[in-house]
Amino acid sequence: MHEFSLGFLRCVRCTSKLWVDIFCQDSEITEGMLECKGCGLNFPIIDAVPIIWDDFSKYLSSRITLGGKLFRLASTGRMKKFVKDSLSKSVRGDDQTALEKRWSEIYQRSKNSKFYVMIKSKLRQIPPSELAVEYGCSIGLMSDFLARHNKTVFGIDKSYSAIQIAKKLPKKNLDFVVADSLSPLFGDQKFNVVLALNVLELIEPLDLLEHVSKQISKGYLVISDPYDFDRGKNSVKKSFDEKSLRKNLYDLGFSISNKTQKPSYIPWTLNLNSRCTLNYKVDLVVAKK
Ligand SMILES: C[S@@+](CC[C@H](N)C(=O)[O-])C[C@H]1O[C@@H](n2cnc3c(N)ncnc32)[C@H](O)[C@@H]1O
Ligand SMILES: [Zn+2]
Repeated sequence: MHEFSLGFLRCVRCTSKLWVDIFCQDSEITEGMLECKGCGLNFPIIDAVPIIWDDFSKYLSSRITLGGKLFRLASTGRMKKFVKDSLSKSVRGDDQTALEKRWSEIYQRSKNSKFYVMIKSKLRQIPPSELAVEYGCSIGLMSDFLARHNKTVFGIDKSYSAIQIAKKLPKKNLDFVVADSLSPLFGDQKFNVVLALNVLELIEPLDLLEHVSKQISKGYLVISDPYDFDRGKNSVKKSFDEKSLRKNLYDLGFSISNKTQKPSYIPWTLNLNSRCTLNYKVDLVVAKK
């Protein structure tokens, strides 16, 4: 974690400022504890990745294998103890570790999809700004691109596996955090650019739009989705389509760029393995306040 991030990140339980106790450091903080003086909650930084989750034991409950990995990655006794104590309080649930790792690998294999070329061309049309964030950034490809044109950029994803890969991107003005996109991670901080690509099936759409809307008083939201909501019990409560996405954006006070008023069908190819690809047609909206 870069030290500059401390100026932006807040406790996700009480939104107080965070303090850092650095255990190991090179060009950035590689291991340490983010501490909330307001409510006393601690958030670990392990292998340079901050995990800012309301309840770390709960985070590990659905990632028991990751818990073991974090224990091995921790290089100090203090951090090993923290991970071990958190694991002992976790309740074994469905282990997401392998699934999150598999998807990180799929995104690495799919870097060259034309979809990302298209997104880059849209992002180039947005004026350079102070502060940008990408929600559901996965391995950080587009956050990295945002960091070329914007002064400070954050990428947020709940997958440790994806953020660990993203953290290898060597930009000094770009940082990544494992967190829930809907948590109050940035307090009442405003952003000039928010990017949310293909996440509406996973992050409750209306909640995400309302959350992002509060974070933009003057700026841009770039949002895309294939509207692939048929996911059984894992589905979000309210699914969106081309119309409802645009209507909800209007209702929240956004205007929509002329070029994205009509639904689009941008090909997005995910290389699942060497014999199988998943081909989506994605709708893109560039909204502005
Ligand atoms: C379908 S992928 C899209 C990845 C990337 N935006 C892209 O289009 O290439 C969705 C990503 O959102 C992340 N995600 C899902 N729910 C999340 C949440 N509540 N908070 C943060 N990230 C979340 C997943 O871990 C995954 O990396
Ligand atoms: Zn707190």
